[in-house]
Amino acid sequence: HDSSQKLPKIECIYLGKHIIRTWYTSPYPEEYSSSKLLYICEYCLKYMKSMYTFKRHYEKCGIRHPPGDEIYRDGKISIFEVDGRSSKVYCQNLCLLGKMFLDTKTLYYDVEPFLFYVLCEFDGIGYHISGYFSKEKRSVNGYNLSCIAVLPTCQRKGYGKLLIDFSYLLSKKEGVYGTPEKPLSDLGLLSYRSYWKTKISLCLNGEPISINEISKETAISPDDIISTLQSIDALFFNETKNEFEIKFLADNTKPKNDNNFIQINPKLLRWTPLV
Ligand code: ACO
Ligand code: ZN
Repeated sequence: HDSSQKLPKIECIYLGKHIIRTWYTSPYPEEYSSSKLLYICEYCLKYMKSMYTFKRHYEKCGIRHPPGDEIYRDGKISIFEVDGRSSKVYCQNLCLLGKMFLDTKTLYYDVEPFLFYVLCEFDGIGYHISGYFSKEKRSVNGYNLSCIAVLPTCQRKGYGKLLIDFSYLLSKKEGVYGTPEKPLSDLGLLSYRSYWKTKISLCLNGEPISINEISKETAISPDDIISTLQSIDALFFNETKNEFEIKFLADNTKPKNDNNFIQINPKLLRWTPLV
């Protein structure tokens, strides 16, 4: 039961000089839900009903980046870690914004058990939000990512896979493997499949390797590795040995490490896991 479905849909948002058409209903407080166009401050994510209030806010707001720590920077790309407990309102606003592009039921108000990783582009003036993912501080199910969204104005530039790569780098630093929370949306599944294929086939370089070794190298869960290997026809059952074996891929069957995949540079991470 999703109470947000009863609310009228905000058709467009004004965010960082773009007007973006929304995809799904998001449970903004009722008096805001009736606006066809909602104005959102791209830095603190406060939402407003008129250009007038927005402009007045923008002059006063002052901040030019998300709250929290900048834990990764590579050229114009930065990732901030924001704690749902210390930056509660920001994280609630982020979830409300994300919900406009997420079909699945997601959290909006109970943000305290989560950390949020916000991807920004810096242009000399400010850090402009491009996308984010949320992550449970402690996941009993081994999830290393709860919800991911990239703003439509920034999609298909490789940011989705960049964020996914980042989620696995955090797991690797924690010394565990992880998997995204289910169910995945169609676009989520497409992105993960593409990411898994690229990362796993990079491990298949001709040397014998086991599923556990691939998992150690990539922090991808053994189940996700098995399903990916099956999908690229790289796993077969050796009946004499009674076990699965990994087939090596000929170069022409490997997915190309295309330009659309901006890989995270692990050396640029400034972060230590929660203890
Ligand atoms: N149509 C076809 N393929 C697409 C599309 C599309 N509209 N969008 C992305 N892809 C493919 C890309 O081609 C790419 O595959 P390739 O490299 O093999 O060509 C792959 O998906 C990922 O592309 P990116 O550019 O890295 O991803 P993007 O920055 O567009 O972000 C994301 C992907 C986050 C899923 C985005 O589409 C989004 O925000 N969607 C709405 C929210 C959503 O569905 N989130 C996932 C929910 S599941 C969960 O949260 C656990
Ligand atoms: Zn603001």
